Amino acid sequence: MSELKKILLLGSGGREHAIAAGLAASVRCDELFIAPGNAGTAACGTNVDISVNDFAAIRDFVAEKGIEMIVVGPEEPLVRGIVDFFDGSVPIVGPSAAGAQLEGSKDFAKAFMARHGVPTAGYRSFTAQTLAEGEAFLESLTPPYVLKADGLAAGKGVVIPETLAEAKAELREMLGGKFGAAGSRVVIEEFLRGIECSVFVATDGVSYKILPTAKDYKRVGEGDTGLNTGGMGAVSPVPFADAEFMRKVEERIVRPTVDGLRKDGMDYKGFVFIGLMNVEGEPMVIEYNVRMGDPETEVVFPRITSDVVEMMEAIATGRLEEYDLQVSPLCAVTVVAVSGGYPGEYKKNYEIIFSQESRVKSQESGVRSQESGYVEQKPVAFATQKTHNSSLVTHNSTIFHSGTMFQGDRVVTAGGRVLAVTSLAQTLPEALAASYAVLENISFTDIYYRRDIGRDLI
Ligand code: AMP
Ligand code: GLY
Repeated sequence: MSELKKILLLGSGGREHAIAAGLAASVRCDELFIAPGNAGTAACGTNVDISVNDFAAIRDFVAEKGIEMIVVGPEEPLVRGIVDFFDGSVPIVGPSAAGAQLEGSKDFAKAFMARHGVPTAGYRSFTAQTLAEGEAFLESLTPPYVLKADGLAAGKGVVIPETLAEAKAELREMLGGKFGAAGSRVVIEEFLRGIECSVFVATDGVSYKILPTAKDYKRVGEGDTGLNTGGMGAVSPVPFADAEFMRKVEERIVRPTVDGLRKDGMDYKGFVFIGLMNVEGEPMVIEYNVRMGDPETEVVFPRITSDVVEMMEAIATGRLEEYDLQVSPLCAVTVVAVSGGYPGEYKKNYEIIFSQESRVKSQESGVRSQESGYVEQKPVAFATQKTHNSSLVTHNSTIFHSGTMFQGDRVVTAGGRVLAVTSLAQTLPEALAASYAVLENISFTDIYYRRDIGRDLI
């Protein structure tokens, strides 16, 4: 595993910018392409204007450039079968369509957990034909009620009504097409009470490596209020996910999951993102995702100090056992700046101003400054900056772009979640202070970010 690689990364979010930064920092990376990428990923490699779901165009590009490895960021191309489409012709980091059902179908995931003894909330699934049984099942539960659209619903498919009447109405609406085909089957499960965290596992289908834990902040408002979002911030590591808790996670959840995939004959070379509830010290699975999280990747990848290209190759070629994963002991936080109105309606195309100060305070990459035009700067891998001098912590920040794009030589907003400012430090308060200091020097119309990320963990 020593030759240089030409790599294609699929996706365009903060997750992909963080992965791109890790790949680009590796001595094993020859050339990196990101399809479609954003204004930030342009500093890590070459953005290519191809949709993640246009498999034919991706195949042509791979052939034309001699791409030697594909890394898939988001779930949609995985669930649509991009790994099966390439059929082994090029190494890919990501599960087959069969494996991707762990995220693509909640009913499939629950049956998988039941089959392999993975602890999770009790459940049953219903369709329009079994609506009456679904209502009867709701009556047998205690509030609040957890209803999940079976298929992919852009993170909006879980509803947790407080009353039985609301739950029944919700079930009828979901089965009636509220989430389109994704809701033609609905999983109803027991409500789990506890604190959430996420565990990320890299696997080649046989062996696995547990990556750093993370906790994300899903609600838009401070104090965990308001609507659910894709994630407003994240912290890694998670203090309550201590050695004892992680031992239970590995024994009861990670190992049975990887073994289960193999026993079920599913080809799975990629990441498993396990959403967990810590129920009085006992880990229970809330959900599986078949990719890294966003914004969790923006705190997990910066803490990986071993070579990221080597890790991806080891996953894609079934040699993960040999990979020596190294993780920084530092704390990482990321704070996401969003467009005003998100997760509801919001406007785009506002210019993002990065003041000189934000550039000094961060390893800001791939943005064009107001004054000086394009700044050519390869992002510095966090791995190379393990500093133990806390006076330097403000230099340990990076601005990861999510919804951004170039408009001429300006960087403008192009999505709800616009950018994520990650900082590494000895302690969580220091890392938070560093990210907020950078954010004070970034502006765009109606910028909003939560000021209480990580506060519950201090
Ligand atoms: P998901 O879209 O599957 O990530 O679910 C969204 C959120 O719903 C999760 O992050 C949890 O906060 C919550 N949730 C899902 N399932 C349960 C459950 N069984 N008990 C309590 N909360 C849940
Ligand atoms: N931050 C949650 C997710 O990526 O699904």
